[in-house]
Amino acid sequence: MSSVELQKRVLSGMRPTGKLHLGHYHGVLKNWVELQHDYECFFFVADWHALTTHYENPYQIEQSVWDMMIDWLAAGVNPSSATMFVQSHVPEHAELHLLLSMMTPLGWLERVPTYKDQQDKLKEKDLATYGFLGYPLLQSADILVYRAGQVPVGADQVAHVELTREVARRFNHLYGKDPGFEEQAEAAITKMGKKNARLYRNLLKKFQEQGEDEALETARALIKDQQNISLGDRERLFGFIEGGGKVILPEPQALLTPSPKMPGLDGQKMSKSYNNTIGLREAPDEVAQKIKTMQTDPQRVRLTDSGDPEKCPVWKLHEVYSDSQRKKWVQEGCMSAGIGCLECKKPLIDAVLEEQKPIIERAKQYEENPELVRSIVSEGTERARDAARATLEEVRQVMGLSFGG
Ligand code: TRP
Ligand code: SF4
Repeated sequence: MSSVELQKRVLSGMRPTGKLHLGHYHGVLKNWVELQHDYECFFFVADWHALTTHYENPYQIEQSVWDMMIDWLAAGVNPSSATMFVQSHVPEHAELHLLLSMMTPLGWLERVPTYKDQQDKLKEKDLATYGFLGYPLLQSADILVYRAGQVPVGADQVAHVELTREVARRFNHLYGKDPGFEEQAEAAITKMGKKNARLYRNLLKKFQEQGEDEALETARALIKDQQNISLGDRERLFGFIEGGGKVILPEPQALLTPSPKMPGLDGQKMSKSYNNTIGLREAPDEVAQKIKTMQTDPQRVRLTDSGDPEKCPVWKLHEVYSDSQRKKWVQEGCMSAGIGCLECKKPLIDAVLEEQKPIIERAKQYEENPELVRSIVSEGTERARDAARATLEEVRQVMGLSFGG
């Protein structure tokens, strides 16, 4: 596959942490479901990543893997357009991780912000381990083994994609140079014609000397537009900008999910650790009960007291689920004591149940038929392995490890 096509390949992973909630749905899954229409998508459950922090107590991981697959399917991830698999079923991730570890400076890993942050945050765990330090590099291998162009992640993971770009650049620089490469690249530049060649060289300079990522993007677009050069020359020109070699491992982009934070039942961000979640497939009566018992504006003790939506977590959910007309109804009704809190919550309960209905329905066939889920995952694994094997063949070769066997 050419690097132009690979720019359209998306890869993302999720740790198996138990059943998903509506925060995952709004923050991640809805976005995945959109992406699968426009991109070639690979989505995987990162079970090895779970072990980097839960190595002492791995017993939940397996169940969580299958729950999570059902959640994805229920949310609308479509196995005929997206490839779904489990990380540990594709050992090429581990092989690439090992090979990348040879050329990754220790300082790059120590400097990843999540390294210190997570150690501080998860104080009860001993995370002074080799695996934990290396886990962002494992993530780099996850991405690079598919030569993915786009990686949908939350803001906390952007640094990992950044590390991946640096690792790829270094890898290509070390191993991407065929003898005679520079001459061939120069010849390819000339073939673009005078004007484009000059433009290309300027962009090259901007990117290599001033590190302007924009120049890289513009140069890529320029190469894409060239009609008169061969595929091989195209690859060379792509490689030439990114470090002077052939692009064996292309640099991915982080695709930041532009979703507002999903509030939980207490108004904080919805998160398992705050115990404020609504499950993706939670039973309707439990959902209704959870919303009915939600805290409201504490100043509003009696029905006749007026309230302030800004001080009420129920309002935050209306901001996600209600149109402007209903939001107006809440605002006015609350501040004038014209509506009661239960009345205010009612349309919200309906909206959440409405959202969950098709999800729960879709989940049913998979819950009743675990074999179906397993066969979807094993098909996905096959497809993923084919792509991963192709990368490893090339990687082994340039690292002096292909023995023709
Ligand atoms: N580290 C990510 C998380 O904790 C999960 C993950 C693993 C991932 N490998 C990935 C995400 C590759 C994107 C791409 O959420
Ligand atoms: Fe909150 Fe609605 Fe009650 Fe106002 S009326 S305090 S917004 S639940």
